[in-house]
This record gives sequence, C-alpha cells and structure tokens, in this order.
Amino acid sequence: MAKRSSGSGSGRLGGLWALVAALCLAPPPPPCRALPPPARNLTDCRLRSRALLAALGGSLRQLQFFFFSTQAFNTLGFECTLEELDLEDITENHINTIKACTSEDSGAGNCPALEGPAFDTNKCLRGIYEDLKVYRAELKNFNDPEVLTTIDEMMKALRIGSTSVLQPSANAALTFKERMRLCSVLHAFRIRAVTINRMMNYLTALESSL
Ligand SMILES: *[C@@H]1O[C@H](CO)[C@@H](O)[C@H](O)[C@H]1NC(C)=O
Repeated sequence: MAKRSSGSGSGRLGGLWALVAALCLAPPPPPCRALPPPARNLTDCRLRSRALLAALGGSLRQLQFFFFSTQAFNTLGFECTLEELDLEDITENHINTIKACTSEDSGAGNCPALEGPAFDTNKCLRGIYEDLKVYRAELKNFNDPEVLTTIDEMMKALRIGSTSVLQPSANAALTFKERMRLCSVLHAFRIRAVTINRMMNYLTALESSL
C-alpha cells in the first residue's frame, strides 16, 4: 500500500499521502473545546436554491392560471404576467447577488467576475443571503408556505448570521395595489432566483474542482 504507484494517478495519490501524513503528525486537538458550527454545505445550498426556484415557478403558474377563480388558493383577481409589469429591483440599495458575485468594472457586458483572484465566494454568498432577506421580508404575508419555507431553508443553509423566522401577520385581504406589487415582486424574485441558482451551480463546481 505504501509503495508509490506509477502512472497518471500518482500525483493525486502522492498528495493524498501527504495529507494523511500531515494529519497523523498534527498534534491532537485539545480536549473539551466547543465544537465549531457545522461547515456550510454548498451542495445543500445549491439544492435549496433549485427548490426555491421551483417553488417560485409553481407559485407564479398558479397566479397566472387561476386568476379568475375565486376558490383558488392564491387569487389576485388579474393575470399576473411578466409582460404587464414594470419590474423594480428592491435589492438595489443593498449588497445583492449581482453586486457581490459580479465584477463592477467589467464594462458594459456586466460579465461575472467568476475567475481569478478577485472572486470572493463568501462575499457572493452574502449577496445571495441579503437578496433572500429582502424578498423574505417583502413576502412575509404572502400566503404560500412552500415559497416561504424554501427561502427560510436556503437562508439557514447559507449559515450567515442567525435566521429569525418572520411570523406572518393576520391574513388581511390585500388591496389591488398590494396584489399588483406582490405579482411584480414574485416575478422579480424568480428572475433573481435564476441568477442565484446559476451562481450556486458555479460555486459548487468551483469547490469540487479545488
Ligand atoms: C451536503 O449536502 C448534500 C445534500 O443535502 C448531502 O448529500 C451531503 O452528504 C452533504 N455533505 C456533507 C459533507 O455534509
């Protein structure tokens, strides 16, 4: 087993042995130390970002197809389609996914600064977290537990700060203006969730290539 194998796998094996040796030579950790919090699991974050995207898609489909039905679970009373909307970016005054994960000086293309030493995974994850926080607050009275739960779970998985679950206030009927805003916020959030999901795909690929 200790014999060095030759061929293409030897570099990797050599690295592995060096790691094993380093671990064996390292002094044992002092006893009775508080356990560090479990590390962030990017794969888990990626799966949760996908679940969030699916929940938002499902919610919007419901709002689009059942707008005429008074019995529907979610009823706005109008067709909530993207074409009718003037989308507003409610995250623009905060750190957000776009600012945190893409380079500001990349010119007109707004190309993600995904490579090179400038890319900061933690900053990007914080941007994603801040987006979720802003939309979570905006949607706290939205009567869709699936959407709210998937946001909460992704925020928890990101392990940035403590996530206090917002309690929905009494389900007061929304005014027409509020329903319009809800429709617009959901569309804007879904577009952002697509970006977040792409970033998570990128971050997990980056991590597994290290
Ligand atoms: C990370 O999360 C994924 C999906 O939830 C899970 O399958 C995997 O075991 C987790 N990895 C670690 C190291 O906990």
